[in-house]
Amino acid sequence: MPHAQPIAALAPMAGYTDLPFRRACRRYGLYYGTTALVDAGALVHGNPDCVPILHRGEEEEWLQVQLLGSIPTDIRTSTRILRDGPWHFDALDFNMGCPVRKVIKRLAGAALMTQPARALECLKEIRDNWPGVLTVKMRILKEDDPEPTIRLAQRLEAVGVQGIAIHGRLARMLYSGPVHTQIIRAVRENVHVPVTANGGIFTLEDVSRLAEATGCERVMVARGAIGVPWIFRDIATGTVLPVSREELLETMTFHVEEMVREYGEKSAMILSRKVISSYLSGRGFPHELRAQVVKIASWQDFMDLRARLTGCSTAQVADFHG
Ligand SMILES: Cc1cc2nc3c(=O)[nH]c(=O)nc-3n(C[C@H](O)[C@H](O)[C@H](O)COP(=O)(O)O)c2cc1C
Repeated sequence: MPHAQPIAALAPMAGYTDLPFRRACRRYGLYYGTTALVDAGALVHGNPDCVPILHRGEEEEWLQVQLLGSIPTDIRTSTRILRDGPWHFDALDFNMGCPVRKVIKRLAGAALMTQPARALECLKEIRDNWPGVLTVKMRILKEDDPEPTIRLAQRLEAVGVQGIAIHGRLARMLYSGPVHTQIIRAVRENVHVPVTANGGIFTLEDVSRLAEATGCERVMVARGAIGVPWIFRDIATGTVLPVSREELLETMTFHVEEMVREYGEKSAMILSRKVISSYLSGRGFPHELRAQVVKIASWQDFMDLRARLTGCSTAQVADFHG
């Protein structure tokens, strides 16, 4: 039976799902938050880039960390770092879906789907060193035959993986093309652990469609949450609530403010340009105002733009939502 309101988790997204992004989503009811992928080798070598990825808000009730890698010794050490550090993550998700060329070259991410022995070796290292929940995020192996994906999922389950999120696209399709819901469904029917369906959720309707087609009670929202944190409210309530221009600008301001708190004004204002654009695009704001976003260099620049966005005449944002 399809569920009226599936459980919606945030999908990991490098460069997006940091603490400010999650805080914007949590205001709208997100519970199952995640970090972006953190590289095992970078953790082992103390790369400072890992610090903001791992930063957990004191108010975050549940947070998953995602680990990427393919060298068992690095996986072991990095798992211990994640276990012994100050973050107290609730779950560790192992990345077996990243299709980026430099990741595949290192036999990590989606490459591990075709190197199951190596994947299982890494997962055993995590299992033996990680006290919390262990999950995997992967893709499908074939579009027209569920067997290879089912077999892999069963091997993951056998080694102790407690949940599997499946992005229903082939690695070579990157982020486009249809989501093969029948493969996700077949996996769900052939493993005992919970399966989370991922791919192509941009509206509340997409959530019901994906949940229904896969039979999954859990879904993962990725690009559909970028600039649209209220999608978690829509999913939780089962209703597309209108978002006024005032609410949109207030939420965007909250998000950017959190980025300033997180990264300091100078870095935050550069990092926040893509965030600001994501809130403004496709919502009827005049092009000449949206074009100002790339020039934002200070909090004052942002507040000046916000004032102009508040005052400009445009269709109600609600018209563009849903
Ligand atoms: C910018 C971006 C960054 C991503 N980073 C990660 C990541 O760090 N780990 C991961 O497992 N998947 C990552 N993904 C994949 C998403 O989690 C998700 O599986 C994919 O976008 C499909 O869902 P969608 O069609 O709803 O966007 C990323 C996707 C995007 C667009």
